[in-house]
Amino acid sequence: MRGLHRRERSPNRGALSLVDVHTFIVENLQLKPAPGLPEIQLYTAHPGSGLSRLRSSDEEDPPPYWAYNWAGGTLLARHILEHQDIVRNRRILDLGAGSGIVGIAARKCGASRVIAAEIDTNALAAIALNAEANGVTVEVTSADILAGDPPDVDIILAGDVFYSAQLARRVLQFLTASRKAGIEVLIGDPGRRSLPHAALELIAEYAVPDFGDTSTGQAAIGGVFTLPRPADR
Ligand SMILES: C[S@@+](CC[C@H](N)C(=O)[O-])C[C@H]1O[C@@H](n2cnc3c(N)ncnc32)[C@H](O)[C@@H]1O
Repeated sequence: MRGLHRRERSPNRGALSLVDVHTFIVENLQLKPAPGLPEIQLYTAHPGSGLSRLRSSDEEDPPPYWAYNWAGGTLLARHILEHQDIVRNRRILDLGAGSGIVGIAARKCGASRVIAAEIDTNALAAIALNAEANGVTVEVTSADILAGDPPDVDIILAGDVFYSAQLARRVLQFLTASRKAGIEVLIGDPGRRSLPHAALELIAEYAVPDFGDTSTGQAAIGGVFTLPRPADR
């Protein structure tokens, strides 16, 4: 299993020839309760983590979002923990899973299956470790799921995936197609610039810390949204 997450670097990409991402995370990140969500423990970056050692010189490398806490995922996980029936015995896709916080919450609340979709292969190692630390199992895929057909699940949970206009367009298209196929959609978001408010229905609000706020203890107010089917609107 660990070998799956080994990351190979070509000789011109840095001093390391092979990085065991699992080992790196365990040795350099801190396992601690998620800010605003003490029920879930996550390997979290700190100033001494040296995350740049995991990056290649490839400009296309995604930033290590998986190593931090985001308001959208935290509040969606909070909503699930407070309304466990939403996910109990249901098959879940955690879209843009990052640390895996949302899918882990769903699994803790009785989801029958959770697939975490995340294009950052380093995140796949973090999701596996975070799931293990919370006593649950989560399947992972690094396929660009947004390019495919609606997945074979009951609910798609999407925490904080509207942070860029380009991604937001693709995500909304995918979620709309999935909704038409009968899949429920729940989105957690603190109001990022590209959140498509007009397409969504707000169902709950929570105050949770956002990335960068954790040292000040400030909380962001964010929402849980559904994506109604066109016929429901
Ligand atoms: C801001 S983070 C949020 C992570 C997590 N959901 C949370 O709320 O803590 C967004 C994540 O979406 C991932 N992502 C971006 N494009 C994606 C795609 N096409 N498929 C799957 N994940 C993607 C990024 O790599 C990043 O880890």
